[in-house]
Amino acid sequence: MSIRLKLLLSYTGMLVISLLMFFLTAVLITIATTGDLHSFRDFYKVHYQLNPLTEEEESIFLELKYLAKNSPDELQDEQLLKDYDFQLRTVRAGLFIRRESNQVFASETFHQPDLAKHLPGYDLNNNQIRNTFNIGERFYAYAKFDFHYTDGAKGSVFVIRERSPFAEVTRRLLPILLILLIGFIVIANILLYRWITRSVIKPLDSMRHSAEQIKEGNLDFSLDLSSKDEIGQLNEAFENMRKRLQESVALRLQDEENRKELISNISHDLRTPITNIKGYIEGIRDGVADTPEKMDKYVNIIYSKAVDLDRLVDELFLYSKLDLKQVPFTFEHVEIVPFLDDCIDELHYALEKKGIEIGWGERIDADTKVIADVEKVKRTLLNIVENAQKFMDKENKTIQLSLQSDPQWVTVEIRDNGTGIPPEAVPHIFERFYRAEQSRNSSTGGSGLGLAIARQIIEGHGGSIWVESEPGAGTSLFFTLKRANAQGGADSHADNHLDH
Ligand SMILES: Nc1ncnc2c1ncn2[C@@H]1O[C@H](COP(=O)(O)OP(=O)(O)O)[C@@H](O)[C@H]1O
Ligand SMILES: [Mg+2]
Repeated sequence: MSIRLKLLLSYTGMLVISLLMFFLTAVLITIATTGDLHSFRDFYKVHYQLNPLTEEEESIFLELKYLAKNSPDELQDEQLLKDYDFQLRTVRAGLFIRRESNQVFASETFHQPDLAKHLPGYDLNNNQIRNTFNIGERFYAYAKFDFHYTDGAKGSVFVIRERSPFAEVTRRLLPILLILLIGFIVIANILLYRWITRSVIKPLDSMRHSAEQIKEGNLDFSLDLSSKDEIGQLNEAFENMRKRLQESVALRLQDEENRKELISNISHDLRTPITNIKGYIEGIRDGVADTPEKMDKYVNIIYSKAVDLDRLVDELFLYSKLDLKQVPFTFEHVEIVPFLDDCIDELHYALEKKGIEIGWGERIDADTKVIADVEKVKRTLLNIVENAQKFMDKENKTIQLSLQSDPQWVTVEIRDNGTGIPPEAVPHIFERFYRAEQSRNSSTGGSGLGLAIARQIIEGHGGSIWVESEPGAGTSLFFTLKRANAQGGADSHADNHLDH
């Protein structure tokens, strides 16, 4: 059975049961308090017995009573009786006069030929002057006065008013009430049903629809999250799941894309030196290198291409191992100034040959220690300096190292006065295989892995790396290393690395 049908049945059931309960209770209370099912009717009877006539009727009745006492014969005067009857009729009552068993006067209002038969007999003591009676289903209240005409005959004067009896009213109204009640049940049912359908079934439906879409592999939709009830929460959880799934699919596709790109980049970058090597070896084999000098030159070229190839493979290997977090870091406490001094000394000679001056800018206390894997930080520095010297275009070529420190971090800056990096390339230079100018690839000869490796290394230290560049004026590369005696206990992260 569907939830829809269950809900519909349960609502209908609840309404029917509560209505039954209501009727049963009403009946039971009536029986319990009065002991009789006819008590409603009796209740009305008693009420009218005590108070059968309205004030106007009562005053006319008193006038008639006065006449009956003082000049009873006037109650045979047709004209006078008609006058009284007219007055009574205006307040919807009627007059009835009898003499012995004869009817002297009867209002036309009653249309009851049997009226006389239902009226009470003579009671000349007038013990009970107000009462009720009914003819069939019609219900009357009256005030009566018995008297003697002057000739001794018995007479009665009745002021009668028809009441709408409770039973009749109920009988007449019952079908309407029933229709109203059934109508109420149906409308209440429809409203409740629609309300629940809207808040439960519809969201469930839309969720099922989304689940089907997900099954089909379509994740580009979003669920309506307006409701805050349990269904809404379920919807939200579902929506979160969809987002996650979408993200992971996107990530997987991205990974796939990256992998393809990596393979195509690798094969492209490997092909160039291999083609060159092949060309020169063929030259030698074909006897093109016919002099010892030429032979020497060819072999040197082959050697340098092989070195390039070796380096490229090396870089690729390192990069992929860093990417897979397979390279262990050996952290130590290093005095940063002497360490960089050594690096500068090492680079000095090679750079000087290219007319590049390398030196210190701003420096910090010589005994400041950082937590670092010396080999890897050196690698980072070399990669950065290599870029700096590749993109030199000024007469005066300089590379300047600066240090700054705060309680937790030491920032290393390597600044060159080269070409600078175009602003649109700045966000990408740390991506693998990214080169700002692809066309320059051959002349500058980079793999596009240098800064990607640098970033892996610095992030492995828990630090960060970034660039600031002014096209035409030069580039500054920054990276941070954690201080060994960092204040504020922030070195716990780096200390963990020491355990490697
Ligand atoms: N100092 C610099 N001056 C100008 N451009 C730079 C500098 N450093 C990096 N770049 C740009 O960033 C790109 C990525 O650098 P890198 O990852 O080392 O790859 P590669 O050096 O192999 O090209 C370079 O191709 C270059 O366009
Ligand atoms: Mg480089």
